[in-house]
Amino acid sequence: MKPHLLWWLALLPLVLAACVTLDDYRFADGTLDGERLYQRRCSTCHDTFERQDYPTAEWPTYVERYGPRAGLNPEARAAVLRYLTKQ
Ligand code: HEC
Repeated sequence: MKPHLLWWLALLPLVLAACVTLDDYRFADGTLDGERLYQRRCSTCHDTFERQDYPTAEWPTYVERYGPRAGLNPEARAAVLRYLTKQ
């Protein structure tokens, strides 16, 4: 087997684990519950802020800055951002 194949096999459990964790946050239609993700994942380092605490235009910056630190992949970040910028 080629070395790079082994590398992907080694990563597979991590990838699967990430999917399983996100499944806890899915609605029946498969979309992610951004509100619950935000409340659970963005509260590990500090209390969550209210949506009104920052202008809608600033939330994308914060979600990109802190989303990865909260272990959120791009799909999860998009869901959190949808929640934070919902009027
Ligand atoms: C790994 C720890 C950690 C996680 C997880 C985390 N944050 Fe933070 N957050 C910080 C720290 C540290 C600061 C303070 C930064 C500073 O004062 O320079 C902060 C500050 C903020 C601020 C204030 C604006 C700023 O940048 O100072 C916002 C808004 C914010 N976080 C949003 C979020 C959101 C949204 C999430 C989830 C996607 C999140 N945070 C998850 C560590 C974290």
